[in-house]
Amino acid sequence: MIVAANWKMNPSFDAAGRLVAGLDACSFQPVKRILFLPHPYLVPLSVRLGQSEIRLGGQDCHQDAAGAHTGDVSAAMLRDCGASIVLLGHSERRANHGETSELVAAKARQALAHGLDVMICLGETLGEREAGKAEQVVIDQLRISVPDDTPHDRLMIAYEPVWAIGTGEVASLDDIVAMHNAIASELPKSQEGVAAAKVPVVYGGSVNAENAAAIFALDNVYGGLVGGASLDAEAFGSICDSARTQMSKS
Ligand code: 13P
Repeated sequence: MIVAANWKMNPSFDAAGRLVAGLDACSFQPVKRILFLPHPYLVPLSVRLGQSEIRLGGQDCHQDAAGAHTGDVSAAMLRDCGASIVLLGHSERRANHGETSELVAAKARQALAHGLDVMICLGETLGEREAGKAEQVVIDQLRISVPDDTPHDRLMIAYEPVWAIGTGEVASLDDIVAMHNAIASELPKSQEGVAAAKVPVVYGGSVNAENAAAIFALDNVYGGLVGGASLDAEAFGSICDSARTQMSKS
């Protein structure tokens, strides 16, 4: 089980220091915790965390190794600043920066080439779900966004329905299971020779301390990608605890 925090463009640097100290005060092993931080926080917080079991990641990287890309950050820079993983294809980047699945795949290739693992986000909009196209949209994103030769042990998938992000509205448990099953059965096809069971698929979209246990108990759900609730050490700890409880049952 993996519980990942996506801080997005939050919080202040002072609050980030307090938050990370709170998170590092407890262990939730064997749950794997990842923090996807704003890029300027990577160096100071990786120094502060030292040999902690918490992994740090970037929230995006450029598809080129280096060059004239004002305001962008390369995979090698993230790695050198303390990240071991990068979040790619988040719906906010797809929507706000026009990122296509082809671009996400190019970024993933760059990240993998520079030693970063990747968590690739997929998810349909409300309009696509209402039109009955949710599964088709997500599977198309999966096929294109994940490079064919991605090593299975360096890949994680996050299913985040766009309409469930930051809205307090969670997908129904049936819809989550259906989509996670669809992704799991597609993975061997989109990746040559990869056993689907080996690629963890986590759920994201209004995960909180109250609903995490029910979501984590679902088949083919290997944890969560948490936005708002990850900015509260107590709520995030409770979500991690739900993941640990689920692991002890299975
Ligand atoms: P919320 O948990 O705030 O809905 O955000 C989910 C998300 O976008 C994580 O990447």
